[in-house]
Amino acid sequence: MNVEHMLVVGAGQMGAGIAQVALAAGIKVTLADISAEAVAKGRARIESGFAKLVEKGKLDDAKRQSFLGGLTTATEIGKVSGADAAIEAVSESEELKKKIFVQLDAVVKPGGLIATNTSSIPITRIATATQRPEAVIGMHFMNPVPVMQLVELIRGAATSDATYAATKAMAEKMGKTTVVSKDYPGFIVNRILIPMLNEACFALMEGLGTAQDIDTAMKLGTNQPMGPLQLADFIGLDTCLSIAEVLHKGLGDDKYRPCPLLRQTVDAGWLGKKTGRGFYKY
Ligand SMILES: NC(=O)c1ccc[n+]([C@@H]2O[C@H](COP(=O)([O-])OP(=O)(O)OC[C@H]3O[C@@H](n4cnc5c(N)ncnc54)[C@H](O)[C@@H]3O)[C@@H](O)[C@H]2O)c1
Repeated sequence: MNVEHMLVVGAGQMGAGIAQVALAAGIKVTLADISAEAVAKGRARIESGFAKLVEKGKLDDAKRQSFLGGLTTATEIGKVSGADAAIEAVSESEELKKKIFVQLDAVVKPGGLIATNTSSIPITRIATATQRPEAVIGMHFMNPVPVMQLVELIRGAATSDATYAATKAMAEKMGKTTVVSKDYPGFIVNRILIPMLNEACFALMEGLGTAQDIDTAMKLGTNQPMGPLQLADFIGLDTCLSIAEVLHKGLGDDKYRPCPLLRQTVDAGWLGKKTGRGFYKY
C-alpha cells in the first residue's frame, strides 16, 4: 500500500522527528498526543526543524510551507480517519503502548500497517493488543530522527512479508536506510552499543583510565565520533541503564549486568547532558 496519510502518536522528541521526515517525503501527517499543549510542542519542534534546514540552505521557503501544510494534529486518536499507516512513539510503557494499539487497530485503514518505535518492548507482545498482529512491526528510528540515517525494522512473530515490504518502502520514502532485526532484546544497535558503553563504565569504575582518557582512546583508537562515556551522557544515563536492564533480564546472561557505577550515577540524579552532569559536567 502506498502511504499517503500517516498517523503519528506521541508528539515528543521521536514522534515530532518522525512526523518531520514523513512530511518532507510528501506524506500527510496527523500528529496525536494527549493534550493541546503536547501537540503544540510537537508542531513547534517540527517548525523549528524545517526552519533550521532553511537557514542551512537545504530547503526553500515554499517547500517548508508546503510540508507544514500537510500537518494536522489531534488529541483523540478515535477521531482520526483515513490513515494508511500509523507509527506509535509514546512513552516507553508496555501497558500504555497496548492501549494505544487497541485504538490504532480501530482507526488505521484495513490493510494498513501499524508500527511501534519502541526501544525495548517485544513487538510480538504489543501486536497481541490488535486483531491484526500480521500488520504490526517495529520501526526503531534513531535520535535525532531527521539526522540519523538508520531505521531498524523488527519483525514480530506474526509480522507478514507484506507488512515488512510496505514498511521498508515507507522508510525508504522517508529517506532512511533499513536493516532487519529479529524481535530479541535490544534489537541490533542497542544489543551491541549498550554493552560497549556499560564496559566503558566498568573501565572507569576500575580506574583503568580517566573518563577523558577512556573517551580519547576509543575516539582516536577506533575512529568513533565521540567517546563512549560522552555518548552515554548524551543518550541519558537513565536510558542507558534501563536498556542495560532490559538486555540483562531479557537475555538472562550476567555478561549484560549494568555497571554499579552507572547505577550510582543515575541514583545521584546525574543523568548526563540533560541534567547538566553525568560522567562530565555541562
Ligand atoms: N529518545 C530516544 O533516543 C529514542 C530512540 C529510539 C526510540 N525511542 C522510543 O520512542 C518512544 C518515544 O520516546 P521519546 O524520546 O520521543 O519520548 P518523549 O517523552 O519525548 O515523548 C513521548 C510522548 O508520548 C506522549 N504520550 C504519553 N501518553 C500518551 C497517550 N496516551 N496518547 C498520546 N500520546 C501520549 C507524551 O505526552 C509525549 O509527548 C519510546 O518508546 C522510546 O523508547 C526513543
